[in-house]
Amino acid sequence: MNQFGVYGMGVMGQSIAKNIANHGYSVSVFDRFFDVVQKYQSTIEKGQAIQGFTQVEDFVASLESPRRILLMITAGKPVDIVIEQLLPYLKKDDIIIDGGNSYYKDTIRREQYCKDQGIHFFGCGISGGEYGALVGPSMMPGGDEKMYEYIQPVFDDICAKAKDGKPCCTYIGKDGSGHFVKMVHNGIEYSDIELICEAYQLLKAAGFDNKEISTIFHHWQQGELNCYLLGIAAKILLVKDEASREDLIDCILDTAGQKGTGKWTSQEGLDMGVPLPTIAESVFARCVSALKEERIQASRILKVELPIAIDKEELLEILPKALYSAKIIAYAQGFSLMHHASKEYNWNLQLQNIASIWRGGCIIQARFLQDITSAYTSAPDTVNLMVSPFFAKILLANDSALRKVINLAVNNGIAIPGLMSSLNYFDSYRQSRLPANLLQALRDFFGAHTYQRVDRPVDEFFHTDWETITKDFYQ
Ligand SMILES: NC(=O)c1ccc[n+]([C@@H]2O[C@H](COP(=O)([O-])OP(=O)(O)OC[C@H]3O[C@@H](n4cnc5c(N)ncnc54)[C@H](OP(=O)(O)O)[C@@H]3O)[C@@H](O)[C@H]2O)c1
Repeated sequence: MNQFGVYGMGVMGQSIAKNIANHGYSVSVFDRFFDVVQKYQSTIEKGQAIQGFTQVEDFVASLESPRRILLMITAGKPVDIVIEQLLPYLKKDDIIIDGGNSYYKDTIRREQYCKDQGIHFFGCGISGGEYGALVGPSMMPGGDEKMYEYIQPVFDDICAKAKDGKPCCTYIGKDGSGHFVKMVHNGIEYSDIELICEAYQLLKAAGFDNKEISTIFHHWQQGELNCYLLGIAAKILLVKDEASREDLIDCILDTAGQKGTGKWTSQEGLDMGVPLPTIAESVFARCVSALKEERIQASRILKVELPIAIDKEELLEILPKALYSAKIIAYAQGFSLMHHASKEYNWNLQLQNIASIWRGGCIIQARFLQDITSAYTSAPDTVNLMVSPFFAKILLANDSALRKVINLAVNNGIAIPGLMSSLNYFDSYRQSRLPANLLQALRDFFGAHTYQRVDRPVDEFFHTDWETITKDFYQ
C-alpha cells in the first residue's frame, strides 16, 4: 500500500510527487494517459518509491487508509469531473486535496458536497511553480481542522522552510480559506510584478541600459526590497537572445497574459467593499498591455511631446524608497482583504502565520515578510498594515520619495498605475474626512438615497428635499 496519491501528471503533479517521494513516502501517481505515466516513470530516480496508474480504481486501491489524494489538475470543471471519478472508489474519511488554483467558492461547494458523502475535501493553495513544487513550495491548506493531522506531517516535510527553519505551510482555516489566501497571494503577486515593471520603465526612461538596470536591481536585492521577483528580474535583464545576440528582454512582445487570480482578487475586493486599487490597477495594466494594436494607433495620434528629463542620480536615490512604500501599501491591501474575509466567513485567519509561510517557497517571498510576520504577531488585530508602527514609520519617512517619483513619471508622460494608485490609497486611507459628504448629498439630491449626519448617531438617515430648496438657485 502506498502512503500518498497524486492525481494529474502535469507540470506541478510530476514535481510534487517526486518531492513527496524524496521525503521517504511511497507515492501512487495517476494520469488518464498511459504514455504520460510511462514517460514519467522513466524519469523516476533510484530511491523514489513512485508507482504509476492509469485506472482510477487501481490508483485508489493502491493507497492506505485514510487515503490522501492530491489533485494537481487544471482548475475549474476538471476538478468536479475528477471528484465524480474518484467518489465511487473512496471510503468514509478518505481525503481529497485540491492543490490547483481553484476559485475558493467552488472549494466551499466541493467541501460540502464531499462531506455529505463522508469524504473530506481540502483546498490547498500551492505556490512556487515547477521548481518550488519539486524542492519546497509554500502551501496554504484549508479544510476540516480535525482531519488536517493526516496531511500535516507530509506537507510540513515537503514544503519550503523559511530562514528560521519554520515550514512554509500552515493550516489556514475551514472550507475555501486556503484557496482564498492563495488567491490573495496571487493578487499581491500581480502588484509586485507591476511595481517592478514600473521601476524598470522609469530607469529605462532615465537612460540606464538593461545591464545597468540589472545591476541596480541586484543592488536593491541586498536590502529591504529583497524578494524573489526582483532577483529574477535582475537575472532576466542579462539574458541574450540566442539568434540575434540582442538583450532577450528587448525581443519580448509587451503584451501580458493572465490566468484570472488577480481579477478574482479585485472582484472579491469589490464584492466585499474592500479597496484594493494597486492590485486592481495591476490587473488593468495587463489589460492595457494587451491592447497592442490600439496602443500603436494611439501613439501616432496622441503623441507624447514631453521631453524626457529624469536625473539619474536623483532617481537612484528616490526610486527604491518609492518602490518599497508602494510594495508595503499593496501588501496592506491584500492583508486587509484577508482581514475582512476572515470576519465575513468566520475563518479566524492568523495573518501572522500567513505572512510567515510566504517567507519562503512562493513567488512573493520577500525579506520584508519577516517584518509583516512580526507586525501581526505583536498586534494580530491590526486592521491595516500601514498603521502598524513599523510600517507607518517607513511610509512617513519615504513619503516625499514616492511623491517625487510620481511627479517625475507624470511630468515625463510615463504611466505608473501601480505607484500612483498606491499613493492614492495611502492618501485616502489617512484622511479623517473625505469629500464623500458631497457625494452623499449628490446621491440624495438625484436619487433620495439619504445620508447620515456628523452630529447624529450613524444609524439615523436623513433626506433633504434638495430640488425644492434649490429651485431658485442660479436661475
Ligand atoms: N504551473 C505552475 O507554476 C502552478 C503553480 C501553482 C499552482 N498551479 C496550479 O496547479 C494546477 C496544475 O497546474 P499545472 O501547471 O501542473 O498544469 P498542467 O501542466 O497543464 O497539467 C494539468 C493536469 O490536469 C490534468 N487534467 C486536466 N483536465 C483533466 C480532466 N478533465 N480529467 C483528468 N485530468 C485532467 C491534465 O491531465 P492530462 O495530462 O491527462 O491532460 C494534467 O495532468 C492548476 O490548477 C494550476 O493553476 C500551477
